[in-house]
Amino acid sequence: MKSKNATLIYFGAFTIGVLMHSCTGTTPTEMTYSGRDPHSFADPEAAKFRHVELDLHVSFDSQRISGWTIYHLDDVHGDSLVLDNMGLVIQQAVRIDEKDSSQVPFRVTASDPILGSALKIPITPETRRVRVQYYTLPGAMALQWVPARQTASGKLPFLFTQSQSIYARSWFPCPDGPGIRFSYRARIQVPPDMMAVMSANNPRRLTSDGIYHFEMELPVPAYLVALAVGDLTFRDIGKRTGVYAPPEWIEASQWEFADLERMLETSEKLLGPYRWGRYDVLVLPASFPFGGMENPRLTFLSPTVLAGDRSLVSLLAHELAHSWSGNLVTNKTWNDFWLNEGVTTYIESRIMESLYGKEIADMWSILGLQDLEKTIADKGPESPLTRLKLSLEGMDPEESMSDVAYEKGKALLRFLEERKGRDELDRFLRHYFANFEFRSNDSEGFFEFARTHLLDNDPGIVDTVDRWINKSGPPLVRGNYSTQSFEVMDAAIVRLTSGRSPEELNSGDWTTNEWIYFIRNLPKEHDSATCLRYDHSFDFSRRKNAEVLTAWLEYAILNGCARHVLATAENFLCSVGRRKYLLPIYEALIDEGFSAEANRIYIRAKPGYHPIAQESIEKVLNRKI
Ligand code: BES
Ligand code: ZN
Repeated sequence: MKSKNATLIYFGAFTIGVLMHSCTGTTPTEMTYSGRDPHSFADPEAAKFRHVELDLHVSFDSQRISGWTIYHLDDVHGDSLVLDNMGLVIQQAVRIDEKDSSQVPFRVTASDPILGSALKIPITPETRRVRVQYYTLPGAMALQWVPARQTASGKLPFLFTQSQSIYARSWFPCPDGPGIRFSYRARIQVPPDMMAVMSANNPRRLTSDGIYHFEMELPVPAYLVALAVGDLTFRDIGKRTGVYAPPEWIEASQWEFADLERMLETSEKLLGPYRWGRYDVLVLPASFPFGGMENPRLTFLSPTVLAGDRSLVSLLAHELAHSWSGNLVTNKTWNDFWLNEGVTTYIESRIMESLYGKEIADMWSILGLQDLEKTIADKGPESPLTRLKLSLEGMDPEESMSDVAYEKGKALLRFLEERKGRDELDRFLRHYFANFEFRSNDSEGFFEFARTHLLDNDPGIVDTVDRWINKSGPPLVRGNYSTQSFEVMDAAIVRLTSGRSPEELNSGDWTTNEWIYFIRNLPKEHDSATCLRYDHSFDFSRRKNAEVLTAWLEYAILNGCARHVLATAENFLCSVGRRKYLLPIYEALIDEGFSAEANRIYIRAKPGYHPIAQESIEKVLNRKI
């Protein structure tokens, strides 16, 4: 009974008017049930979701996904199936038991601005399946309908989903919390000249009728269900690996990702068997709001990774690592996001070291620590958002996803490595993934498991790990990284600022991470002549590498060169949609008093951005005006 009451209060906290029973006499704090996901209305106690079937039609003309979703249920206890829903038009719900099927009245609760609404369908202990007919509306948060002119060929439009963190519910009604897993099967109908791909087994070739069948027989949470539709072609990379990309980019993609199979083998050595069968990647249009998204069997990638020199493949290592940390062992709620991202960022670094050497891996690690320092300084070291274990009740999970989860989380694993030794930590990680496979875990579960299987209950280190996870502020210990390459950069900066000519720096063979470090650590003089001189000497504004160009634009705007780089910035902001690049540039423009320009560029660029990126940028623009 306790948890049932708690559930009701929980809903009440988000959606006035959802409460159906009264809970008089109990205060909200007494009723808070910490085991529940604060970002999902689904009730995992009422029934077990075993399997989901999707039967969907994708129409580019009406920019609509429509069709049926069927839920196969086990252990039905409750009298109502509760699904998350964000802006879907629900047309019909059908309840199916052993003998009968009948249309049933359903209810959609008032919409919460962050979470959307709950779709409630009456069920009985006999219910085996529930079928919901629905369609999406324009503006669905997960979907971007990319017009043909923004694609590689310029000929056919493109559609992709981005379900993480809480947007799967905006394209199919589902139990949308990372703690609930189901296998799925899908039949997707698309225009005949387009290919559909999903985070499942994939076709690898075009069908003649535009109908595609998918199966993901392993249980996954809703945020890992993904779909993309467009003009795509496939190329093998290795035995188990390959790439989907628009025909115009396939060659370059196959070349850029040539190490993928080796990465997979290296990861298996480190972490235990890869459990998902194939590992393919998909190159999306430039408007994809992230660098990468670890959709199982089919990582989604931004084309900004195609640097032409394989210098940004750490992103591949990162998304591949999620096949263990995130996809196999999943954070229970978004409060434990660091278990996905921090562990993954640590493994990414290990894969990079194994393939490309310690120097490269350590350079990325140091850049990551610099990002973290800046993030913690911006948020303030006392901010609860600088904790690994978060308390996101009432907040949008998107807002709290920062370098803290990635870098402070990674630093914890690095600390454990340095204290216990690499072999011990690797043995622990393999044990951890095997123990929690196809399940979710929270910070407390990680801590308990580490305490017994890695830390031998040693009070000194146990206490450090506890504080690292639960207290705000920077990492308690900074890892030991090789700083040799960056010392060369520091010396180059000193030479440059003491009047030596840029040519004397011999920068010809500097790598991407060296350039990023160099730009970030140039003196902040706010002097347009100096800034211009750097640009002329190093040709920064004409760089094609999106990481280097972003670092430069941010530096130039903040150091007296905003007017000079404005056209370059506008062009970049109108041609890529990766949030990590967009936000610092918009922020820098506003900080330097270029709000009017930032707003003008945004109005021009907005139709090309994914709804998730639009939302984040609008927050920046509104906050800073
Ligand atoms: N899973 C994340 C992307 C994500 C996080 C989407 C939170 C929605 C909400 C992905 O694995 C990731 O971390 N991508 C990074 C790249 C990585 C190398 C740091 C990105 O897109 O920048
Ligand atoms: Zn990640």
